[in-house]
Amino acid sequence: MNIRHCARALPLALAFIALSCGTGAPSGGGKVPANAAYRNPSLDVEARVADLLKRMTLDEKIGQMTQIEKGSLRGGDVASLYLGSVLSGGGGSPNPNTPASWADMVDRFQDEALSTRLGIPMLYGVDSVHGHNNLKDATVFPHNIGLGAANDPELVRAVGAATARETLATGIPWTFAPCVAVARDPRWGRTYESFSQDPSLVTALGAAFIAGYQGADPSVGAAAGTGARPIATAKHFLGDGAARWGTSTTGTYKIDQGDAAGDEAYLRTVLLPPYAEAVKAGVKTVMVSFSSWNGLKMHAQKALVTDLLKGELGFAGFVVSDWAGMDQIDGDYYKAMVTGINAGVDMNMVPYDGRKFIDTVKKAVDAKDISMARIDDAVARILRVKFEMGLFESPKANRALASTIRSPEHLELARKAAAESQVILKNEATGTSGGVLPLSPSAKLYVAGSAADNIGIQCGGWTMEWQGKSGNITAGTTILAGIREAAGADRVVFEPWAKFAETDRKAVCVVVVGERPYAEGMGDSASISLNAGDIGTIERARESFDRVVLVLLSGRPLILEEAALSCDAIVASWLPGTEGSGVADVLFGKVAPKGRLPFDWPVSTEQLPVDNFVSGNQKPLWPFGYGLSW
Ligand code: GLC
Repeated sequence: MNIRHCARALPLALAFIALSCGTGAPSGGGKVPANAAYRNPSLDVEARVADLLKRMTLDEKIGQMTQIEKGSLRGGDVASLYLGSVLSGGGGSPNPNTPASWADMVDRFQDEALSTRLGIPMLYGVDSVHGHNNLKDATVFPHNIGLGAANDPELVRAVGAATARETLATGIPWTFAPCVAVARDPRWGRTYESFSQDPSLVTALGAAFIAGYQGADPSVGAAAGTGARPIATAKHFLGDGAARWGTSTTGTYKIDQGDAAGDEAYLRTVLLPPYAEAVKAGVKTVMVSFSSWNGLKMHAQKALVTDLLKGELGFAGFVVSDWAGMDQIDGDYYKAMVTGINAGVDMNMVPYDGRKFIDTVKKAVDAKDISMARIDDAVARILRVKFEMGLFESPKANRALASTIRSPEHLELARKAAAESQVILKNEATGTSGGVLPLSPSAKLYVAGSAADNIGIQCGGWTMEWQGKSGNITAGTTILAGIREAAGADRVVFEPWAKFAETDRKAVCVVVVGERPYAEGMGDSASISLNAGDIGTIERARESFDRVVLVLLSGRPLILEEAALSCDAIVASWLPGTEGSGVADVLFGKVAPKGRLPFDWPVSTEQLPVDNFVSGNQKPLWPFGYGLSW
């Protein structure tokens, strides 16, 4: 056991002694009658909330406001801290990484929560942001930027529902999605988590995902006996995608978690609409952004979190912090926690030292730096969501949904989503009639590129690991496999670096290259360009073939240099997920291209942020909404 655990064990032991001496005895007192009102599902939710709240001790209340990452928990912690929530951070999978192992893990935590005096079920959360992307061999859908290119609300609703089913199958009712950032600078490492630069597109697709995920689909949630109804998170409130380059103060990050600046009109017309619609769509939780607005951390922004979100927009769910996001408010932990909770954070994603957070808040309540009214409001919001989603009645995993994981229906949906997200940026005639696309399924085909046969690259970040990972990381169909399926394997010659032993100048060469996976600020990039290896591959293909098709796998528009721009066809493929056959469907014309650019595509980074395109001050290489058909 490492020193952190030893150090942590001591306070817990002292707390246990205190509790057993009665200093932590519940204000409402002892045993709870089996017929207590809050346990009656036929009662009005508000009546259940009121009944339960009045029975809770301060420890039990603050425990509900505490979310801990599962890796920081030892047996008994969920019960002894009265934890309201547990999460898996990016890549936080059990071992083995199977649906049953996930469900066993979540149910173990739940058994502890249910063993407490009041038996309040804990709420488990995970980042299912493009499918249940931490679960091995789950269906992984295109990241939001691709769904933005498809711009099909019905498709996004279906993706939300499918993601809910596969996540529920592992016992987890809560996803930290959708990200409804209106991204305004593709140098941001989280651009791919945004549907678009355009607030109306983000608004429509964010609401569609929420409707799908939270069970507008009758086959999902308690209605179908599938346990608690799944809940979503609109994140990150607010302006995470509008931070300006160079303003981040987080580690080596350049723009992620930086400062967004603007006036009230900008906030209300560009950044706020997706949240207004998410609240209307009934989203149950909102996550606060690490970033700042006009120099003040969002986690400290009472005017925006409480007055605007909860007051003016009428958000009645609960607000969760981002990962230790409140800590960034101030170097003084006590001050940071007081400020964050008073600003309107209801649940703290601590995520490590729960005892420290709980003791700090207790001290603040005793000192009247945090009012009991604020605590009761936060806890009431959390309890309200738990009652509304049926968690008290269905706290355990519904394992029957495991049959939906990578089901034919889900794979077909992911393939459709991948196809609809493809954007044809260029398709020039090359001596033959019409453009080089669609490809002929009967002609010999050469394929090159480091990303052609790589599930990890085509999925991107937030897949199996927080940062994602290149390689054969989970089940799926690579783009190369999709091409071989469409053209017949014997017609396809593959050489990743375009160093073909023999070539036929008249044949077509498809080059699939792109960004290596990244997440959050680790993906902040000043250049947003292809790497030298990929450029070399494109150049070799260009030298050897009269017709070259460039397929770009990226989490954002990239700055393209001469060799790339010289290709006869260029396809923005984004991060299409595990079903690469959807990309091949468009390349071979099985599915007509319908994708349109969700972002202006810059000529150079000097033109950024995209506000300069929106205002007309700069001209993009290809504009927002651009895309070719045939
Ligand atoms: C991360 C992200 C947030 C995610 C959370 C839990 O830092 O900012 O989007 O939901 O932590 O993994």
